[in-house]
Amino acid sequence: MTVHFIGAGPGAADLITLRGRDLIAACKVCLYAGSLVPKEILAHCPEDAKLVNTAPLDLDAIVAECKAAEAAGHDVARLHSGDLSVWSAMGEQIRRLKAEGIAVSVTPGVPSFAAAAAALQTELTLPGLAQSVVLTRTPGRASTMPEGESLQNFAATGATLAIHLSIGNLDAVIADLTPAYGAACPVAVVYRASWPDQEIIRTNLQQLKADTPEHVTRTALILVGPALAGEGFEESCLYATDYDRRYRPQTAESPWSSWNHGDD
Ligand SMILES: C[S@@+](CC[C@H](N)C(=O)[O-])C[C@H]1O[C@@H](n2cnc3c(N)ncnc32)[C@H](O)[C@@H]1O
Repeated sequence: MTVHFIGAGPGAADLITLRGRDLIAACKVCLYAGSLVPKEILAHCPEDAKLVNTAPLDLDAIVAECKAAEAAGHDVARLHSGDLSVWSAMGEQIRRLKAEGIAVSVTPGVPSFAAAAAALQTELTLPGLAQSVVLTRTPGRASTMPEGESLQNFAATGATLAIHLSIGNLDAVIADLTPAYGAACPVAVVYRASWPDQEIIRTNLQQLKADTPEHVTRTALILVGPALAGEGFEESCLYATDYDRRYRPQTAESPWSSWNHGDD
């Protein structure tokens, strides 16, 4: 018996991996994070599967559901929104399950920051503007931030910031980022990326609060940094005509000329 943790993607029902879909179809029990996992994804469950919305459950109750499935000899599909590597609460569940001797597997999903960038048709690492993306958040009612992981510190790097779980903290976001990025720094808010009611707000740090509609109170990402302008960047070397590289040696003397293509 195995508990399969599966990233259910950002919202669109077809943004799930084939592996994730097939695992859901093979499990007699499905535990899903009800607030963000789309109902269409549950349609992949077997008709007689037991479906449990874990939104109202605590960790003990979730582990109890897994133990009950184990006793019945059933595998469990455990669905969380986006990818499991960020803000999924997978870590604490795996720790408990392993302590109970229950096997787990992990299948990645499309994270919301990637869905938001796709909605914007934007590369977050534009040459000359940004070469790093920081996935972060601001402190919440139930979550403090480790010392050092402040927005001011991340802003000092000039990287593209993908700020999660913070649409209710716009005053702090603006105050913390403006000194380093400047009031004119481009910002995009993507609300419910990939869902049918997705909304995109393109603005800057100065206008961020005024431009964010009142109904955008959750399930939104705030992307900040020079790369969000989508202009003023350099072309990469990757496709530069005169760039000597493994797949396109420029001369017979190129170290790549004798490279054996079959090895890679
Ligand atoms: C608990 S975290 C889950 C993150 C998720 N594991 C992921 O891979 O993106 C929830 C936060 O992720 C962001 N989020 C999740 N889905 C989103 C979506 N479809 N559009 C925009 N932001 C989303 C929001 O910032 C939201 O507050």
